[in-house]
Amino acid sequence: MSTTTLYPGSFDPITCGHVDIVQRGLKVFDEVRIAVAINLKKQPLFSVAERVEMISALFVDEPRVRVVTFEGLLVDYARRQGISTVLRGLRAVSDFEFEFQLASMNRRLTDEVDFIFMMTGEDHYFVSSSLVREVAAHGGDISGLVPKSIQARLIERFKQS
Ligand code: COA
Repeated sequence: MSTTTLYPGSFDPITCGHVDIVQRGLKVFDEVRIAVAINLKKQPLFSVAERVEMISALFVDEPRVRVVTFEGLLVDYARRQGISTVLRGLRAVSDFEFEFQLASMNRRLTDEVDFIFMMTGEDHYFVSSSLVREVAAHGGDISGLVPKSIQARLIERFKQS
């Protein structure tokens, strides 16, 4: 039986840290389904459609990666899709508290979906999408923090503003 895991996030934009988790996930699962959250609370730099397009282009040669969007509760989406695991990356001890809270709340909502945690590669412990956006906005060097195609999109976006 093939196994699929859901990897959710805002991915605004996807970083090398996220890519690292996807690659680790592919070693364990047959399919990693990247789920871009439609999060009305966050004011995004890239629209959901742009993020889906950017992530899909990154994994165009990897048929075991699919990119989808979801709205509402993560566990409801997972259940509707018949997916029983959610993949999350842990960067540092500071992530643990939030992830523990999130996983515990989700467990309270359903026992049909379990959370799997993977450690991000040590090169990416400090990377977050908002930090990357901030550095890029001020013209700082973001090479190595995001894939090259994403770097180009960030530079282009901040040139326009
Ligand atoms: N490498 C680099 N950066 C990483 C990373 C990694 N491996 N993992 C996470 N990050 C970054 C993200 O880019 C994000 O940066 P930002 O805040 O600067 O944008 C930050 O760390 C937090 O990541 P995450 O916790 O995944 O937040 P998110 O906004 O990307 O995604 C959802 C959160 C979408 C998974 C969560 O809000 C959700 O499930 N929402 C749906 C509603 C729901 O079910 N809520 C839960 C109720 S219990």
